Parts: sequence; structure tokens; C-alpha cells
Amino acid sequence: MSATLDQAVAALRGGGLAILPTETVYGLAADAGDAEAVAAIFAAKGRPRFNPLICHYATIEAAFAHVLATQLAERLAHAFWPGPLTLVLPRRPDCPVDPLASAGLDTMAIRVPAHPIACALIAAAGRPIAAPSANRSGGVSPTIAAHVVADLEGKIGAILDCGPTAIGLESTVLDLSAGAPTLLRPGGVPVEAIEALLGPVALGSTETTKTFRAPGMLASHYAPTLPLRPYARAARADEALLAFGPAPPAPLVWNLSETADLTEAAARLFSGLRWLDAAAIDAGLAGIAAMPVPDHGIGRAINDRLMRAAAPRS
Ligand code: TXA
Ligand code: MG
Repeated sequence: MSATLDQAVAALRGGGLAILPTETVYGLAADAGDAEAVAAIFAAKGRPRFNPLICHYATIEAAFAHVLATQLAERLAHAFWPGPLTLVLPRRPDCPVDPLASAGLDTMAIRVPAHPIACALIAAAGRPIAAPSANRSGGVSPTIAAHVVADLEGKIGAILDCGPTAIGLESTVLDLSAGAPTLLRPGGVPVEAIEALLGPVALGSTETTKTFRAPGMLASHYAPTLPLRPYARAARADEALLAFGPAPPAPLVWNLSETADLTEAAARLFSGLRWLDAAAIDAGLAGIAAMPVPDHGIGRAINDRLMRAAAPRS
């Protein structure tokens, strides 16, 4: 049963965990200024403490009060906030966000979600809200409240059920803290839209990843239980099929979008991975074959998640 907004606000103000519904995926929220509450996020998810969290704010002004914003950051914020863009910027020396939330880095990831309940919750809590996706670490992000319950039941004070999330994929993460703007994670705002405003954007390299600039870019992530085979034309006899567009016959099929619509595919990706994983295991199948998705617009973020789901498990 869904909690009320008041119950979620009370949970956050009392140092507890609450679910933050957003336009991208459901988040696992806590008061970012409260070290114990932030530690509880890492514990509930089983998330390594070197992987920093995004701080969520209800307004642009509130977000920029805690970081050293540049003109570029201001332009991006006014173009894309509220919305699925996360900016990494240097923390201000007096930033009240607990260092654990940003994993001890001198930078911090911030975003203003485009979701009326998210903004109402953050504003009423009156605090910056740290919130990673509300799944077990390494698993698939939740796009409906039932996913959250399946992963984290018993560990959360208040779950706000606001139905399926509109976008279905996480925010785009852009690092503005050092030199040229660098894409750390493709997501809800297509990189083409950012490049239309800024010109070419650099891509985070594995070298950067090794030094934990973008810890979330570690290889295996967003992974179902079964192995996933990307760029498949069809499923083998022992595979389920994650289809896109007209689908060949397969033992078990989840079609991301029969009409090959990328927005619909993004919204159906994580539900599809979770459903196929469970149903394929029930049916005694050995893996999931994923058909190719065009690599533009939000398709880039879909492919990024599929490649991480397919990466060797650590
Ligand atoms: O759409 C979203 O972004 C969702 C909703 C709940 O807002 N949140 C989300 O959080 O996806 P999470 O923790 O699952 O992913 C945050 C990503 C991770 O890859 C993390 O490594 C990166 O952002 N990140 C956070 N702070 C960073 C920092 N200071 N420098 C570099 N990367 C950072
Ligand atoms: Mg996540």
C-alpha cells in the first residue's frame, strides 16, 4: 500500500528512508545532510561506498546553492531542469551535504527532477535529498513501485506509489567539474540535445572510470540474473527474446516497441528485463537475447544499459 506524502516527509525528516518517485526511475531517498541516513541508503542497496549519490533539489536556486556553478551549468539548468539531467560540479566549501553522499569526492552530482510529487516531497522535507535508484546494487532500476518492493521490502520507511515512471531510464550524467563537459552516463536527455546547446561533448573513458570519476560506469550493472546476449537477430531455442520492432518467433518475448518507437522502448526496458528474467527462469531457459536498438536519441541510453547488462559479472 502506498504511503502518503506526509508520511514520506516525516520519514525523511526523522532520518529514515523514503521512496522518491521521479520521471526517470524510482529513487531511494534520505536527508543528504544526515550521515546516518545516507549510510542507511548504502546499506539498504548493498552499494559500495565509493559510488557517490545524486542530490535532488526542488529548484535550480537550491541546487546551485551547494556547488560552484559555471555559466555553462546555468545554461544547461535553464534548458533542461526540471528534467532528467544530472550535473557534476565542485562542492562549495560550506556545502552541508554529508561527504559520504558524494563518496568523499570534491565534486557532487545534482539534479532537479521533473515530477510534481518529487518536488513537493523535497520542498516539504526542506533538505537536499540524496537518492540513488531504488534497486539492489548492480541490479535493474525500478520503474514501478512493485520493483522497489521486490528489491527492498522491509528496508524503507515510506514507499510512495505514483505509477509507472514516464521515461523509464535514469538521468543523463554530465561532468562539468574539470575541463570540457564530459558525458558520464547517457540517459533521459539525449546527448544530441546537449550538443545542440554546447557543441561536441567528450565521452567518459575507462581510464576516468578506473580513478572513480564515474564509479557508476563500472562494467556490470543493470544486470538481470540470466546472461544477456546483445545485438541478437533472433533468440536461440533456449533463450528469451527482448525484441524491438517486428519480432521473429521465440520461446518467450517481451517487445520493447512493436512500432520501433525509442521513447516507448525506454519506458518498457527495465520492466521487460525484470519480467523476462523471472519468466525465462520459470520456463527453464538459459539466457536473454536482445535485438539491436538504433544508437541515437534515447536509444543511446538503452544500448548503454543493455551493454552493462551483458557485461561480465564481477
Ligand atoms: O535518474 C536518476 O538519475 C535516478 C533518479 C532517482 O534521480 N538516480 C540514479 O542514481 O540513477 P544512481 O545512484 O543509481 O546513479 C547515479 C550515477 C552513478 O553512476 C554515480 O556514480 C554517478 O551518478 N555520480 C554521482 N555523483 C558523482 C560524482 N560526484 N562524480 C561522478 N559521478 C557521480
Ligand atoms: Mg542506479
